[in-house]
Amino acid sequence: MFVKTIALWCFLVTVKGKVRRFPDTLSFGVATASYQIEGGWNASDKGEHIFDHLAHTTNKMVDNGDVACDSYNQHERDVEMLKELGVDFYRFSISWSRILPEGFSHNLSQDGIAYYNSLINDLIDANITPSITLYHWDLPQNLQDMGGWRNPLMVDYFADFAEVAFKTFGDRVKTWITFNEPWVVCVLAPIWFSVSPAKSLNGIDEYICGHNLIKAHAKAYRIYDRIYRSAQRGRVGWTLSSSWHEPITQSAADIKAAERTLQFNLGWFAHPVFSREGDYPQVMKDVIAQKSLQQGYPRSRLPEFTTEEIAQIRGTCDFFGLNHYTTNLVRMQTNASKEPSYFDDQFTEILQDPTWLSSASPWLKVVPWGFRNLLNWIRKNYNNPETMVFENGFSDSGNTYDIDRISYHNQYLNVLLDAVEDGCKVSAYAVWSLMDNLEWLEGYNDRFGLYYVDFNDPRRPRTPKASALYFKSILETRIIERDLKNSRLF
Ligand SMILES: *[C@@H]1O[C@H](CO)[C@@H](O)[C@H](O)[C@H]1NC(C)=O
Ligand SMILES: *[C@@H]1O[C@H](CO)[C@@H](O)[C@H](O)[C@H]1NC(C)=O
Ligand SMILES: *[C@@H]1O[C@H](CO)[C@@H](O)[C@H](O)[C@H]1NC(C)=O
Repeated sequence: MFVKTIALWCFLVTVKGKVRRFPDTLSFGVATASYQIEGGWNASDKGEHIFDHLAHTTNKMVDNGDVACDSYNQHERDVEMLKELGVDFYRFSISWSRILPEGFSHNLSQDGIAYYNSLINDLIDANITPSITLYHWDLPQNLQDMGGWRNPLMVDYFADFAEVAFKTFGDRVKTWITFNEPWVVCVLAPIWFSVSPAKSLNGIDEYICGHNLIKAHAKAYRIYDRIYRSAQRGRVGWTLSSSWHEPITQSAADIKAAERTLQFNLGWFAHPVFSREGDYPQVMKDVIAQKSLQQGYPRSRLPEFTTEEIAQIRGTCDFFGLNHYTTNLVRMQTNASKEPSYFDDQFTEILQDPTWLSSASPWLKVVPWGFRNLLNWIRKNYNNPETMVFENGFSDSGNTYDIDRISYHNQYLNVLLDAVEDGCKVSAYAVWSLMDNLEWLEGYNDRFGLYYVDFNDPRRPRTPKASALYFKSILETRIIERDLKNSRLF
């Protein structure tokens, strides 16, 4: 029935001519992450990672990923779904402790490596490009016990892990994403992990984590450059998350506050790599230094890069990876706190418009125009880099006739085309996610998938939703309706 509906709908829009064509330079894919789909948490010699630990030793998670979508045992079915959709690429992540059980590169799991080899080979056979995220948050617990991203030696441990991946899979994998959403790793993770191993230090930990993570990324990139690039001819980058931040009024203070929020969210990681001068954004350096002194610290809570480090970090991305979902409103907030905190350093208040349509996730409102603004902000601030959208998606609480998800992607893809017409060089778009999966602390309640997964059935059967057929039709025709309201589906 859905297939028929879509055929009719394509016919209707073709007749009406209200369609837009995607440029040939844009490739389409879907994304997942290891802990959210794999299961097999103790398969063979896989080591424990921080989410295994959190799930098994605290009640912070409403569900765990012990089985998840069971992709560890069912990756053939995953590849079949990717073929059904007709995607150009599949973005997935490697679980560090599945290939290096103890976190260090002296001990490789042959079974872990065999799992990813099999997935990669199946993708290549299906003519689907594998795009690998090295770090999608599941840090080996051993390394967390040594301080996690607080520990400056993480730079070397991550680079060792990256090198194992380049060496083992790089003959077939040509797109590498070192980190998924550094902002989440450094700002949210200390909140998630406040139980272990030590209490988190607000306004200090976040910046130490960012500092080490940026250096770890740059080190992995330089290793690829020096040792692997000439033979493997792949590309390395990372993917940054950012909402658009819109000033709540057009007052100078609110406009500055919105810009400052963007710099603290996106600029924090983008500026050191993509700007001409490198290093952290000036506004972060100024504000954090000033607040730190006011609070009685002898120096800024934001660590400094050396001149040599700034040069080593600058330019270490072959593309600008972006994860984008929603928009916030920003108001300048004047009352300062005595307690240091990453949020207080921004002195802003973040809100959303109550009239914006909501998803099942309270933070995710449907605001397509913010996506266009953000893509143009990146174009203007970083000399129009090639931009690859590695996540964009909508959550609901479960229904295979998912009209709201179709509407979300229709609107965001139209805006992506607007941004391309504005001059933004967008070369990839990935839907989050291939299938419903473990939404971290929210468990299995917030569903983002194009495929519905029945988590009550031990076999974890997957069923295409209407949005899967919608996405498939876009990939086949490479056209999109300007406005879905005229279509027969609505
Ligand atoms: C793996 O974990 C499951 C629970 O998820 C447990 O039932 C099983 O015994 C464990 N297997 C091994 C080999 O420890
Ligand atoms: C590798 O790690 C696994 C899992 O922790 C352990 O069982 C095994 O003994 C280790 N092997 C070596 C050679 O260290
Ligand atoms: C600052 O003001 C806002 C809005 O009036 C209030 O919600 C917040 O708690 C205040 N923060 C501090 C640190 O006093």
